[in-house]
Amino acid sequence: MPRARVGILISGRGSNMAALIEATRDPACPYEVVLIISNVADADGLAFAAAEGIPQFAHSHVGLTKAEFEALIDGALRDAGVDYVALAGFMRVLSPDFVARWDGRIVNIHPSLLPLYRGLDTHQRALDAGDTRHGASVHLVTAALDGGPVLAQAEVPILEGDDAEALARRVLIEEHMLYPAALAELIRSRGA
Ligand code: GRF
Repeated sequence: MPRARVGILISGRGSNMAALIEATRDPACPYEVVLIISNVADADGLAFAAAEGIPQFAHSHVGLTKAEFEALIDGALRDAGVDYVALAGFMRVLSPDFVARWDGRIVNIHPSLLPLYRGLDTHQRALDAGDTRHGASVHLVTAALDGGPVLAQAEVPILEGDDAEALARRVLIEEHMLYPAALAELIRSRGA
């Protein structure tokens, strides 16, 4: 079966992007990564993508309306023949229109056990709440911020003495395994 074509949207470090790319080295991986898009021109993740020889499209959202910016992204994704879009630390909220155009084919990873802690500062919020477990979720993206159907989750215990940084580090290790597996599973179940 031909591999599904995945485009990844980032804004920064890109470690989940790198994990998604690394997973494609397995011949059984049902997807390939064909485009990296960033709204930040010097996002760290772009250097990794360049070293991998993956085409990239970097364009700031600054000075553009949301509709103008999203038209650029959508055009780049369509030009690259993308089948699935993976958000990986992409720090712009996408409009309902954009999301509807990729309905069922756009996913995100969020550092909490959704539906807990949508939005930012998830690690600190889990600590402040006195939770004993925390983790990450991969979900389909809908118009509701971090509110789409959950595809997969990974849990970590919250340990005595954890601060937000320590917890984030431990969750991130899980994210890097969870995201490629969840995306592969979605594609296997739906096809390219
Ligand atoms: C991750 O914690 C991810 O769950 C969240 O943003 C962070 C991105 O990190 N959506 P990276 O850019 O993938 O390293």
